[in-house]
Amino acid sequence: METHKQLTIGLFGFGTVGEGLYKILQQTPSLNATIKKVCIKNPDKKRDAPIELFTTDKNVLLNDPEINVIVEVINETEPAFEIVSTAIKNGKEVVSASKKMLATYLPELLGLQKKYQTSLLYEAAACASIPVIRNLEEYYDNDLLHSIKAIVNGSTNFILTKMFEEKIDFQSALLMAQQLGFAESDPSLDVEGYDAVNKWTLLLLHAYGIVEHPDNIVFNGIQNIQSTDAVVAKEKHYDIKLVAQAKKLINGNVAAFVLPQFVKHDDHLTFVRNEYNGVVIESGFADKQFFYGKGAGSFPTASAVLSDLSALRYQYKYEYKKLYHHKPNILTNDFYVKVYVSFDELKYIPKEKFEWIEEWHSDADRKYLVGVIHFNYIKENTWWKENNTSLILAPEPIIEDIEVRKLRKKSLELAGIL
Ligand code: HSE
Repeated sequence: METHKQLTIGLFGFGTVGEGLYKILQQTPSLNATIKKVCIKNPDKKRDAPIELFTTDKNVLLNDPEINVIVEVINETEPAFEIVSTAIKNGKEVVSASKKMLATYLPELLGLQKKYQTSLLYEAAACASIPVIRNLEEYYDNDLLHSIKAIVNGSTNFILTKMFEEKIDFQSALLMAQQLGFAESDPSLDVEGYDAVNKWTLLLLHAYGIVEHPDNIVFNGIQNIQSTDAVVAKEKHYDIKLVAQAKKLINGNVAAFVLPQFVKHDDHLTFVRNEYNGVVIESGFADKQFFYGKGAGSFPTASAVLSDLSALRYQYKYEYKKLYHHKPNILTNDFYVKVYVSFDELKYIPKEKFEWIEEWHSDADRKYLVGVIHFNYIKENTWWKENNTSLILAPEPIIEDIEVRKLRKKSLELAGIL
């Protein structure tokens, strides 16, 4: 049986990740992997590699029978899908880091893999250097995964760290993230949460067998966070992080979202600063496990691509066990969340929709409340991200129906006092 396959690579993209991979491969000859051709968009850009390596014609790579692996690390979604799907159809193994493309075209890509039985690996697409996809796929191959929460976007975490710990303003922090190569070429993808929800879509598939379009997952970025929110966080001894979270509820359905969240100082995610990512997995018997590493940048991302290439030598494929071999879990909006909401004027807040309000501060210019609301009022509405309103989840924000019924009476009494 062939176990150590020779990999002849066709590389699409020579940006932060592509060039990082090129350099790393030069330092790892034992991998038996060589880049035969690199397809780029702009032939005039100066590249730190021999000119004969490059082409602008994708078919040179896709139709070369000697190239058995396509590595796709370009920026544009539609061309990336075109490249990856053609490569699969042409019987090539594929490694991709295009999180947006993968998340957007998940059903199509699952179908193609099933039909052509080739391998599509994308460890670099979520949390870069942290081996989280293969872990969820292989190690947590059971029904015991209670919850997973993570910081999956390096740029926003970097910006929040710089703003709140080093008092650097938002624009300067963003510029630093761009210069360091963490940010997307369109940084609003980072700042407004799109990048995080794309990654979360991929992790939900491998954690719970959930296939959802990113548009169906509630998310926001850090663009609505105000300096006054940071003051409140400090008073309460919390950090503010952009947290992706999923939790299996008592009825077996899964609550999932990507939203700014108050994080307690004893939470593992507090430890995750700058461009680092972190994942806390809670499973039956094992309790909590914490994965930590660089979630962005040239070499950390390329190292995940390298690990996928290494796995391909052993014919590794995702089996999508939670989707195909277990009963896949269902995403639900039927639960409650405890939220902090700051706002300019009360008229923008549907206060009657709250189950109860625990805190209420209206004396300052900026007002805020802390209360419990059904998740549907967030999923189906946009009040919480309009009119300068900022919504930040409380620590441990998910509250199940049964708990709400128990707590309602007690809290109504409190609200009566207020
Ligand atoms: N822009 C992304 C981030 C790069 O900041 O996390 C890594 O996916």
